[in-house]
Amino acid sequence: MSDQKIIITLDGWSSCGKSTLAKALAAALGYVFVDSGAMYRAITLFFIRHQVNIADPLAVEKALGSIQLHFVFNPSRGASDIVLNGENVEALIREMAVASRVSEVAALARVRQFAVQQQQRLGKEKGIVMDGRDIGTVVFPQAELKIFMTADKEIRVQRRLKELQATNPAITVDMVRENLEQRDYLDANRTESPLRQATDARVLDNSKLSPSQQFEMALLWAREAIRKANAQ
Ligand code: DC
Repeated sequence: MSDQKIIITLDGWSSCGKSTLAKALAAALGYVFVDSGAMYRAITLFFIRHQVNIADPLAVEKALGSIQLHFVFNPSRGASDIVLNGENVEALIREMAVASRVSEVAALARVRQFAVQQQQRLGKEKGIVMDGRDIGTVVFPQAELKIFMTADKEIRVQRRLKELQATNPAITVDMVRENLEQRDYLDANRTESPLRQATDARVLDNSKLSPSQQFEMALLWAREAIRKANAQ
């Protein structure tokens, strides 16, 4: 494989397995994996902790001015953990308290501007796989490969339930379904950069695909896109 690197974007609904696939793809290609949702979650955690009134633009501005986000590679996960003002918050941002507030925070134009700027900086050198909701449409509209992931809602609910129950057995299927439906709705209906399938995205419906089948399919597309970029 020659050395022209590309940008791969992976957008789609909540709990479709975007991060798992993005991480595997990045590892196979020797690319950097960035979970853009972790950035919105870490910002939300900060807002919760500091009781930021999201209806007050000045309070939001002040809070963003106090937020420093970094990623640090965690060898045990084979992916990067997110660091908020020097504190590794990777585990905390996955909790329900953050999940139930993140869509409102991610809907704020100023928050998106703040996160998108950092995401674009991370992609400057290419060789990146980034997953999220607006990566192929807003963050990297020029990306060489855009994947849009989707799956049956009930399948997504079961996958998410299993993940959450590993750390919190009190979580019920109804709680997970309600949170997922609410996030789907807010993500797709917000004014700022709603979740949309880019017109040039390749669709990956993984309802009936095993992780390895999805991976093989995405890797094939990635190799094809890299070949094309190198031929130009
Ligand atoms: O992918 P995730 O579930 O960790 O994302 C958390 C929330 O952040 C989700 O409700 C949508 C939002 N998000 C977004 O608006 N734009 C992105 N690029 C990534 C996530």
